[in-house]
Amino acid sequence: MSAPASAAPTQDELKTLVGRAALEYVVRGEIVGVGTGSTVNKFIDALATIKHEIKGAVSSSIASTERLRALGIEVFDSNAVDELAVYIDGADEIDGRGHMIKGGGAALTREKIVAAQSRRFVCIADASKRVEVLGAFPLPVEIIPMAARRLMRQFAAFGGLAQVREKDGLPLVTDNGQHILDVTGLKISDPLAFESEVNQWPGVVTVGVFAHQKAQVCLLATPEGVQTLRYD
Ligand code: A5P
Repeated sequence: MSAPASAAPTQDELKTLVGRAALEYVVRGEIVGVGTGSTVNKFIDALATIKHEIKGAVSSSIASTERLRALGIEVFDSNAVDELAVYIDGADEIDGRGHMIKGGGAALTREKIVAAQSRRFVCIADASKRVEVLGAFPLPVEIIPMAARRLMRQFAAFGGLAQVREKDGLPLVTDNGQHILDVTGLKISDPLAFESEVNQWPGVVTVGVFAHQKAQVCLLATPEGVQTLRYD
């Protein structure tokens, strides 16, 4: 009798796999930049196994800070640190050049700040996140609440339908005290130009296109193992 075929890994198992694989990119003896989300949570769990080999972390959200501290990893204020060697974070979408959509977890502003502070962005994702053109995932944009109506009209002129993200029936409030628009219907074929354009709209705090702060490496978890994609 032949052995039963092994079941394909679940998405959760793929996230665990890629979270562990990211340890290879953590520079021992230094402070590591840590993103936010369910994939990063797996990375934080893996990071705890080498916590005595690093100085600590700069975190991109209250949620990640709490998880890091609960596991005994020191969290530094970003202003207490100059440059970070590496920033490790997930993505909602990543294209063939390392451009991403981020912010599904509403942490995009702090994520972009820590990414900008880091020499290298290592994106950790499962294979479902890899796309040809950004835009199938609703684009998160952190905004000043008083600008919501006008920004919704501006996105409509771009062919996008923007909605205020809600939590428990009320507008979600970010770690920075602002709101999030989720924009559907966009096809972002020039992410650099799109990010620059939307960044200039009054009331936009951060657009969830990460093209200026793109990934240099993507560790992509597939059922066959972790693929390393480089975008240097
Ligand atoms: C958080 O704001 C996001 O940018 C996350 O990095 C992104 O949503 C990916 O999250 P998951 O790892 O949970 O899919």
